[in-house]
Amino acid sequence: QSDMRARLLEVNKQAAKYFYYQLISPRGQAAHDYLVQRGLTEETIKQFGLGYSNKYSDDLYKYLKGQGYEDEFLKTSGLVTIDERKGATDKFWNRVMFPIMDANHRVIGFGGRVMGDGMPKYVNSPETLIFDKSRNLYGLNFARASRKQYLLICEGYMDVIALHQAGFTNAVAALGTAFTIFHANLLKRYTNEVLLTFDSDSAGTQAALRAIPILKEAGLTVKVINMKPYKDPDEFIKALGAEEYAKRIAEARNSFFFEIDVLQSEYDMADPEQKTKFFHETAKKLLGFTEELERNFYLDAVAKNYQIDVEQLRKVVNKLGSQI
Ligand code: GTP
Ligand code: MN
Ligand code: MN
Ligand code: MN
Ligand code: MN
Repeated sequence: QSDMRARLLEVNKQAAKYFYYQLISPRGQAAHDYLVQRGLTEETIKQFGLGYSNKYSDDLYKYLKGQGYEDEFLKTSGLVTIDERKGATDKFWNRVMFPIMDANHRVIGFGGRVMGDGMPKYVNSPETLIFDKSRNLYGLNFARASRKQYLLICEGYMDVIALHQAGFTNAVAALGTAFTIFHANLLKRYTNEVLLTFDSDSAGTQAALRAIPILKEAGLTVKVINMKPYKDPDEFIKALGAEEYAKRIAEARNSFFFEIDVLQSEYDMADPEQKTKFFHETAKKLLGFTEELERNFYLDAVAKNYQIDVEQLRKVVNKLGSQI
């Protein structure tokens, strides 16, 4: 099995090189233009080893066959599909390619983006012996070397790359999948604090709400960066630049207040019944702090931030607390 792992790492490396040379060849002109139009420099393209899977449907297959790999193995690698009748087909077709590396710079899989508006927007390698999406973070191989006290967590490949290019070399992303405790524990090896810089749409907000308890579970301090009115870090930096983004980092909020903000947005505070529900939900969340001092600090802060009478809120918390 360790031999199999080594062979899979080797074939991915070969494929990454092949995609890179396709990108810088005349055939890759449109793909290269796409990346440049998205603001990437030559240096960034090289650093992240970006590439292009061209319009031939089996050229990677043929190339790898020429390198001595057998069909059965290439199937296992996820780079090629082989159908009894249709023969061999490359998994990635006419896409810009993002090699996914583990923390030690070894290529374990790929993401491929359509150039423009096609569907699906991204295609990713299937999970293999070496590629487990729930245990790897895109960009960690570079971010781990950053000397910052915290890591930035964003949603997408392009966000990681744009952040690194803008000097925020401590950014990583989960690979389009939900955050797991494995991701959190992996981060904990390198840092004690993470700042979430997810998309500002509702999908991003929901993803942040799901990630927060998992990251806290691993013992990480969690803060949330506000991207509004832009959609994601890539678009934010393109519009306002690195300095404005740095300000947003400095203004990042404690994840608890982010959670309460989202909660409040779900209720109409002008309606007494809804306001009562908001109080109860807030009190429930405050009960999550088992240490009395900490709970009181949060209680005071919440009351102040949301113009709630502190004694009233304390009563609700104590009443709920005595019921459980
Ligand atoms: P750009 O449009 O290139 O800026 O990408 P984005 O990262 O902003 O895209 P989005 O916010 O839609 O998605 C975030 C991440 O989710 C992407 O980087 C991918 O890893 C993943 N993802 C997005 N769309 C798809 C898809 O259609 N299929 C799969 N498998 N993953 C996707
Ligand atoms: Mn091809
Ligand atoms: Mn999104
Ligand atoms: Mn984007
Ligand atoms: Mn996005």
